[in-house]
Amino acid sequence: MSKLFEPYQIGAISFRNRFVRSATHDRLMLPSGEVTDAQIELFRNLAAGGVGLIVTGHSYVSHPLGRASIPQNGIFHERFVDGYKKMVETVHQHGAKIFLQLAHAGRQTSPEFIDGQMPVAPSDLFDDQGRQVARALKLEEIDRLQEDYEAAALRAKRAGFDGVQIHMAHGYLLAQFLSPYTNHREDEYGGSIDHRISLLCALSYRVKAAVGRQYPVFAKLNTTDGVTAETQLALPDVIYAAQMIAEHGIDAIETSGGTIKETRVVMSKPGILSPDQEAYFAPAAKQIKAAVKVPVILVGGLRSVSAMESVLADGTTDMISMSRPFIREPDLVNKLAAGQAKATCVSCNLCFNPQGLSCRYEGPAPQ
Ligand SMILES: Cc1cc2nc3c(=O)[nH]c(=O)nc-3n(C[C@H](O)[C@H](O)[C@H](O)COP(=O)(O)O)c2cc1C
Repeated sequence: MSKLFEPYQIGAISFRNRFVRSATHDRLMLPSGEVTDAQIELFRNLAAGGVGLIVTGHSYVSHPLGRASIPQNGIFHERFVDGYKKMVETVHQHGAKIFLQLAHAGRQTSPEFIDGQMPVAPSDLFDDQGRQVARALKLEEIDRLQEDYEAAALRAKRAGFDGVQIHMAHGYLLAQFLSPYTNHREDEYGGSIDHRISLLCALSYRVKAAVGRQYPVFAKLNTTDGVTAETQLALPDVIYAAQMIAEHGIDAIETSGGTIKETRVVMSKPGILSPDQEAYFAPAAKQIKAAVKVPVILVGGLRSVSAMESVLADGTTDMISMSRPFIREPDLVNKLAAGQAKATCVSCNLCFNPQGLSCRYEGPAPQ
């Protein structure tokens, strides 16, 4: 049998196979951030569909400034724990593991989602007309942020999640600190790569220390921010960041890319229809995997069993992560195990829809 469908262990946690449902914001929660029955149903279908690990959509750790949109799940208060418990129990009944993704929007939000305030970022940021669109976090706010992540991770553990994933990708706050495109600070949190990763490392260490050695703490990391500015994030910096967050407690790294505000199509590339278009972060992931001791989880355009097997076999990745294919086929893993050669997702991106998460593609399935 293919290695894809065999159990896999990371530290103390074991997964029934190598498949991960990558974090996917589903818009099915209450406007106030609590879990709904519709979400529990979505997660039941995913778990029953055979996937090994489900990562929830991004859940925000600081209220209101960390909120990226309404609705969005929250984990900034104890009141969220009971709803998550039901979600976790449902997933466990069907043999899958589930992690909560911890996130902070930083500049990728709008005043209407954060009680009319100005979004925060590593630095003061301005739009093309010179209007201020984000303000720099103060040092004491950065300290508080670390407390928020720690408290959020402990809540996730109390809710029964098998682990947490810290969102450091897609242009949200921690990706903003990593990239010189958005981080122009001149203190210990900006400038050199050592300074730009200091918050990512501090958070990794703090969260891991709080939840304990046995409790998995993963990260989703940008391999590129996708922008063409001179200040874009460079791959050698990312490789170093990956090594350092792993040294500070991160147990596995999901390698992604793109910045929602400017380059969402870099994150979720449209029109993946042939094997040569698949696995678009594989070259970066391979370099990261060669440089770190922890497992790497590849996401981005994986669609066919043959491409998945080849990135597992050639040392690019240890697990196979997908988002859009599971929106169309929550039972995709069972189907692949039964012999289906590839996902039927055509990567049309109609699933990015404010009305809620569903596959809206109505054309023919790819050959
Ligand atoms: C509707 C939608 C919502 C998403 N929400 C999140 C999210 O909350 N957190 C995250 O890290 N990535 C999110 N992503 C990105 C995916 O996890 C994934 O990295 C990306 O779509 C590439 O994988 P794919 O080609 O298998 O879709 C989202 C993607 C989609 C399509």
